[in-house]
Amino acid sequence: MITYQIVFEGAIISSATFDKADFTPEVLTCVDQSGTIDRVISATDNDYQSVKQAAIDSNILRKIPKDCYLLPGFTDLHIHAPQWPQAGLALDKPLNEWLNTYTFPLESKFKNLEFAEKVYQNLVAELLANGTTTGLYFGSIHTDANLILAKICGYLGQRAFIGKVVMDNPEQTPDYYRDASSEVALSETEVFIQQMLDLHQQTGADITPVITPRFVPSCTEETLRGLGQLAQQYDLPIQSHCSESLWEDQYAIDHFKLRDAQVLDKYGLLTDKAVMAHGTQLSDTDLTLFEQRQTSLAHCPISNAYFGNSVMRVNEVITKNINVGLGTDISGGFSLSIYRNMQQAIMSSQMLQDSGQKQARLSAANAFYLATIGGADALHINSGQIKVGFKADLQIVQDQYFAVSSNEPQEIFERLVYHTNKENIKQVYVSGKLVHNNLGENNGK
Ligand code: GUN
Ligand code: FE
Repeated sequence: MITYQIVFEGAIISSATFDKADFTPEVLTCVDQSGTIDRVISATDNDYQSVKQAAIDSNILRKIPKDCYLLPGFTDLHIHAPQWPQAGLALDKPLNEWLNTYTFPLESKFKNLEFAEKVYQNLVAELLANGTTTGLYFGSIHTDANLILAKICGYLGQRAFIGKVVMDNPEQTPDYYRDASSEVALSETEVFIQQMLDLHQQTGADITPVITPRFVPSCTEETLRGLGQLAQQYDLPIQSHCSESLWEDQYAIDHFKLRDAQVLDKYGLLTDKAVMAHGTQLSDTDLTLFEQRQTSLAHCPISNAYFGNSVMRVNEVITKNINVGLGTDISGGFSLSIYRNMQQAIMSSQMLQDSGQKQARLSAANAFYLATIGGADALHINSGQIKVGFKADLQIVQDQYFAVSSNEPQEIFERLVYHTNKENIKQVYVSGKLVHNNLGENNGK
């Protein structure tokens, strides 16, 4: 028998399709030495008892407590790491004003590496404690500070996709926070790519560099073109914002006589490895382009309530065969919890339906799919499901109302989506490795 790294015993909940989450009451989830789920053994299988006994003998059986459930970890598909210190603050202005008044001054402080280290330590630990096992991050323009973020993710064990933010358009960026020129923007991006690849090689950290034009208004055409070429040359993921607000949508039309999505596409920035945030203003023709390019969208429902000028049509987008995940958009969104964003996605979709959009409503199962499978698919990682061959990115979550509520699987599931707080997330694993422990001294054994 192969020696497992860890074997979990207890109930699992995992998304099966966009519309359905599976609840399985009693299984052994066996994780191999590479951190991959090797087997999911049901209680009726012949070797359930022998595998369980072997796990007990090697002291690797993790019994999930009676009021707890094993869920896949979440992917945050859009988060601005340097904006963490202002999460929940300064949300009183429209997007463009907010950037200039609060956000660019804050991000410019990450030139100071001590400050960067302090903020990023706290952010990554908080994300893990909230069940986020993979992050797709915007850093700042500073290559060194971004590398610190990568090292912290590696050290704390979070899977991370990180971009050096590129912004070099003097008309739309302040002189104190801008890439000095297009050449500098592109050469710094390349330096960052190399350093990330080296760090991955040297430490084995699960980190990937991401091509990151901030958004169309922040970049010169020369730079957008160069970034498209770098993405192709290094075969890398791309992230940006697309049609997030009425202002951004209009900017592309005024300056390029094109739609925002068309500008990105013109420079090779809409690929099947690209993740575009928000898309609240995307037109039907934009969606066709996204479908053709197989570009994913990061839905950021809390942030959109402030800056989006409308609600993204998630159901319609999914029907058009475009992949969607969830993003917190720290700090356009105030909460780094993907649970909180699932709740908002559902609530916003109800309001969209009430405002006349047919079939707009999202269910808890839909939101859970976005948080798990949608996010993982956008980044082409085998994560987000408790299934053989998938990475053991997992969270053990407690149903705090177990004693007083119904224990029907569907009701437990919905309660977890609506009521899970950081305190209820007992343990978190990335590729089978414990990265957050809130279960007390005996580690739950
Ligand atoms: N568009 C360009 N930069 C940003 C940012 O930092 N946050 C959000 N929400 N939108 C942006
Ligand atoms: Fe954003």
